[in-house]
Amino acid sequence: MLIDQHNRIVNYLRLSVTDKCNLRCFYCMPEEGIPFYKKDKVLSYEEMLRICSLLTAEGVNKIRITGGEPFVRKDLPYFLKELAALKAAPEINITTNATLLGPHIPLLKSIGVKSINVSLDALDEQRFFEITRRNVYRTVFDNLNALIEHGFDIKLNCVVMKDRNIEDLIPLAELSRHKNISVRFLEEMPFDGQSGVRGALDWSYLKIKDYLTAHFGAMEKLPAPPNSTSQNFRIKGFKGTTGIIPSFSRTFCGSCNRIRLSANGDFRTCLYGPAAINLRDELRAGHSDLILLEKIQQALNQKAANGFLAEQENKELLKDSMAHLGG
Ligand code: GTP
Ligand code: 5AD
Ligand code: SF4
Repeated sequence: MLIDQHNRIVNYLRLSVTDKCNLRCFYCMPEEGIPFYKKDKVLSYEEMLRICSLLTAEGVNKIRITGGEPFVRKDLPYFLKELAALKAAPEINITTNATLLGPHIPLLKSIGVKSINVSLDALDEQRFFEITRRNVYRTVFDNLNALIEHGFDIKLNCVVMKDRNIEDLIPLAELSRHKNISVRFLEEMPFDGQSGVRGALDWSYLKIKDYLTAHFGAMEKLPAPPNSTSQNFRIKGFKGTTGIIPSFSRTFCGSCNRIRLSANGDFRTCLYGPAAINLRDELRAGHSDLILLEKIQQALNQKAANGFLAEQENKELLKDSMAHLGG
């Protein structure tokens, strides 16, 4: 079992399979993209499977596949099948922009994927385009509907951004009136792949909650699942739920059970902290499983208690792209 220095069990890996993306959401990367990892720096599927096999044997039972956009990486279905076939098979979750996954729905069903998180920041087509800089609104919506029809547990992630999508918050929340989905509103973080400076956070989780409450009336607070990042509510009469994620305020760090592996092998014990170790280098140095595990445990022995303390360990401003960090 993996336990960090604060006695927290670590059982959730967020695995970014690629830093590439077919969208250009302005809060994640500039129009021209970011310096994407060179091919030889990216972990092969075999390398990822070796690390996942080690971690699942040590009790990691949930792996969330992230990017960039995971379906941009070639042969992702092959990797997902192999992952699902590991001896200690983990629950596989995916976070996606839903532009490319339509044709892969049967495969996702067949390997037992149940839960998919879809990024959707606007219901208005023009605002969607202004945020993502790509004209794929229809595809995203069609794929989202297909996922719902196929019975996946869907969480919609909407990053709340001043002057960009506030008009969309109520219509987005409305999607859960008749559908059993979770619509979650995220505080914006500074990981935009450029300045790292976004000024003070305007739309905090408290402000988001007040805004929703002013429109819908008091929302029923739902019990939080263990290790949840989102505070969950039910609006009166709604079938689905509404969530708010204090990703910048970091109120949930105390029960953190996460580790992150970037596509280039950087291993992070906190989203806000520097990479503790590069597992690609360690793997390619030819270490045994035992040594690799020892190194992972050493990193966990340094895991910061929360995202604010982790942030202090960074020498530079937080300006990396979420596509490198894996969300
Ligand atoms: P579940 O696994 O369903 O709980 O979803 P998740 O919230 O972990 O995953 P998702 O990929 O949907 O992430 C949604 C958002 O949660 C991210 O964009 C971040 O805003 C926030 N988030 C996820 N993990 C962390 C974390 O470790 N720290 C912080 N501060 N925010 C996080
Ligand atoms: N701030 C908050 N959330 C972000 N995401 C990407 N970049 C940012 C940011 N700067 C979200 C995506 C996706 C999730 C994994 O991270 O919208 O839903
Ligand atoms: Fe792509 Fe996700 Fe970044 Fe948007 S937030 S550009 S969908 S990686």
